Amino acid sequence: MTALRLGVNVDHVATVRNARGGLVPDPVRAALLAIEAGADGITAHLREDRRHIHDDDMRRLKASIEKPLNFEMAAAEAMLDIALRIRPHACCIVPEKRTERTTEGGLDVVGGFRALKPYVAELARAGIRVSMFIEPSPEALKASAELGSPVVELHTGAWCDARMRGDSAKADYEFGRLRVAAAETAALGLECHAGHGLDYETARLIAALPQIVELNIGHFLIGEAIFVGLAEAVKAMRMAMAEGRASAERQQ
Ligand code: PXP
Repeated sequence: MTALRLGVNVDHVATVRNARGGLVPDPVRAALLAIEAGADGITAHLREDRRHIHDDDMRRLKASIEKPLNFEMAAAEAMLDIALRIRPHACCIVPEKRTERTTEGGLDVVGGFRALKPYVAELARAGIRVSMFIEPSPEALKASAELGSPVVELHTGAWCDARMRGDSAKADYEFGRLRVAAAETAALGLECHAGHGLDYETARLIAALPQIVELNIGHFLIGEAIFVGLAEAVKAMRMAMAEGRASAERQQ
């Protein structure tokens, strides 16, 4: 089975910093610490309203970390310009609404196909690995492949929410969609990532899907860091992911 990478999203270190203004806590320091503790890459979302990560954070992350930087962004001209200047390893295109608290659903790759096409092309031309943050649906997968995006990130939010609410029928249904979508990525030649709302338990469970090669996790890890420290939280997450992969390998 392929290795499973962990991308640590440092947005909410910036959320805490911005609550007071000033310079601390610094998302770049968190990124360096997460990498030292075992993260394979760092993810940050430069939102159009700059509510957490700022432009300068992106520049400093790119200059400071040696592991891949995954730049989450809306498909907007201003974001494309910044991405082309910063040249992260990867760009994950996400839907963005000003009023939402977090990225609430996947990108409408079917309806937005024509609008998204030039973004995928420009980023790819710059040598940036492009990913579409999508719902685990056959239509979204197909459209992503047709757009020429080499990677998709499956939105795990609906599954994680259902589990959190104790709605096991809905959770089973959502996990089924994730399982089918992950399996379909192989046939479409897409690299499969997943993320949103993951904690130790859901990361362990989703690690069992063999096509998934990367999880991007932020909110839970930064919250855990308050209690156990970021390094310990990252190590425990790696352990949960490794357990999930190992149990799936034993069942093969
Ligand atoms: N992946 C993508 C594309 C996201 O937009 C987010 C949230 O910014 C995450 C992963 C991480 O989600 P969470 O913070 O809930 O772990």
